[in-house]
Amino acid sequence: MYEHDVIVVGAGGAGLRAAIEAHEEGADVALVTKLHPVRSHTGAAEGGINAALHEKDSWDLHAYDTMKGSDYLGDAPAIDAFAKEARHEVIQLEHWGMPFSREEDGTVSQRPFGGLSHPRTTYAGAETGHHLLHTMYEQVVKRGIEVYDEWFVTRLAVTDESNPSDRTCHGCVAYEIATGELSGFYARDGVILATGGLGQAFDHTTNAIACTGDGQAMAYRAGAPMEDMEFVQFHPTTLPSTGVLISEGVRGEGGILYNDNEERLMYEYGYANNDGELASRDVVSRAELTEVNEGRGIEDEYVHLDMRHLGEERIIDRLENILHLAEDFEGVDGLDEPMPVKPGQHYQMGGTEVDEYGHSCVDGLYAVGECACYSLHGANRLGGNALPELLVFGARAGRHAAGAVEEEPEIPTGPGAKSDDWDEESPAELGAVDATDPIAADGGAVATPQEVLEQAVETERERVETLMERDGINHADVRAKVQKTMTENVNVFREESNLKQALKDIREAREEYQNVAVADPSRTYNTDLIHTIETRNVIDVAEAIALGALARKEFRGAHWRKQYQERRDDEYLKHTLYAWNGGNPELYYKPVILEGHEEKYEPKVRSY
Ligand code: FUM
Repeated sequence: MYEHDVIVVGAGGAGLRAAIEAHEEGADVALVTKLHPVRSHTGAAEGGINAALHEKDSWDLHAYDTMKGSDYLGDAPAIDAFAKEARHEVIQLEHWGMPFSREEDGTVSQRPFGGLSHPRTTYAGAETGHHLLHTMYEQVVKRGIEVYDEWFVTRLAVTDESNPSDRTCHGCVAYEIATGELSGFYARDGVILATGGLGQAFDHTTNAIACTGDGQAMAYRAGAPMEDMEFVQFHPTTLPSTGVLISEGVRGEGGILYNDNEERLMYEYGYANNDGELASRDVVSRAELTEVNEGRGIEDEYVHLDMRHLGEERIIDRLENILHLAEDFEGVDGLDEPMPVKPGQHYQMGGTEVDEYGHSCVDGLYAVGECACYSLHGANRLGGNALPELLVFGARAGRHAAGAVEEEPEIPTGPGAKSDDWDEESPAELGAVDATDPIAADGGAVATPQEVLEQAVETERERVETLMERDGINHADVRAKVQKTMTENVNVFREESNLKQALKDIREAREEYQNVAVADPSRTYNTDLIHTIETRNVIDVAEAIALGALARKEFRGAHWRKQYQERRDDEYLKHTLYAWNGGNPELYYKPVILEGHEEKYEPKVRSY
């Protein structure tokens, strides 16, 4: 058994930042990650990091843009803390050596991004995430923080009191990919999940193959609910054949979207008469698909993104990476021709329910970055707000886990946060999930943290042995079924019948998963086993998305419902929670917090 004060699971931007901060506060920290840190998906982030650095800009404008972008489903304590602290984080990153793109006078460049009232997106060419990851990994190495890389965390070791808010997380169980050994990691002070997104629940996504919703699903089964999972971001500019991201930075620099008639669609059809291509992502994605649906798409599938008019010098200076991606993955030379683009799954606004310090309702269990939901992005995230989120909330959680935060959180979590005002009927039979499922939370009647951990390791060992020894079907078909139905039925445009179909397919997949088996008998680098375990996570997060989408009968941010074409603040200024509840999932709601310290945000009509 390994032992540290704070265990950070995942070593992308959020995990690295959390580890650095906890270490700065004197904690003995370890990073446990299924990838090498610099192979984390943060490295795929292209466009930039928002922070109100310019003298004409201010944190409260950034906060307002974020709240408006969220379609008023963000929580003010998280948004205000974010906008205030992003500035310090970006300046610190610069001091750590981040190679930001610069102006002639040496100041860090900032470009416009969608939904921002001021150009506040700092960047390093169109490979900002790659540089951010390397800059922070250097800081981890410099501090001598222990990294267990290629260790896949498969389970949290949590006590099993009936009320999740009475539980404690004592650590996690990890599978060493190189040896096939399972070990317990005892966390004296806390486990911080920083496992990233869940794009693999869809079959057209910008996300890496490793983004399988591991943290969200593990925390859910340990008692921390998933929040606002119906809000999925579809990025408007992904390459049609692969889902590879073409950064919003292209539009930030002046790139233009055209339909098959060579019309500048955003203005021609009035989708966003003020901001055009730089409207919020949900608006642009709907515009593109409307063009396709109304017969003005190219090859009935995509639209064109043209940057040729920016000129070779500027393109090479600021967007060189985009040229390589378009050439390598689509065979298109962006200097000579427009690039084909269409919406693709990019980001999950929802995640594990946490407060503004990243703490969940389970004592000692934190989540930060894309796997978490502190209600920063609400119903839609603004481009360029994900990377500062990693920094701000990674630091906050690291500080809190190391015991350096005195303040009480303002965002409530767990069953106590449930609002009695909305005791709604679930839109579909929630159905029990087998409570004897060996991946549910446990601790049994055991007393010490070590015993909780040992029991968790033992349960996990049995789970792996069962998967390896029995005969059965391959997980890949089950995963493909989920991905297909999510892309067909829980996409940009959502209809009741499609959402119900998705739920039916996901439940069938859950049944089929009971019969999966791992054919590869190897104990070393057994990717079949790893993917089989991940697929279980994919099923859990997909179900939460489909169910949350069916339950929310309104159109807000990225959640468009054919039958409900308006935002319904009277009924839906509330967060959706989906709790494991001992294998009998429960759907409930809690109110949105619009009251900040300086001002109260009043929901307005959101137009760009
Ligand atoms: O378009 C992009 O470069 C992506 C940025 C983001 O998701 O924040």
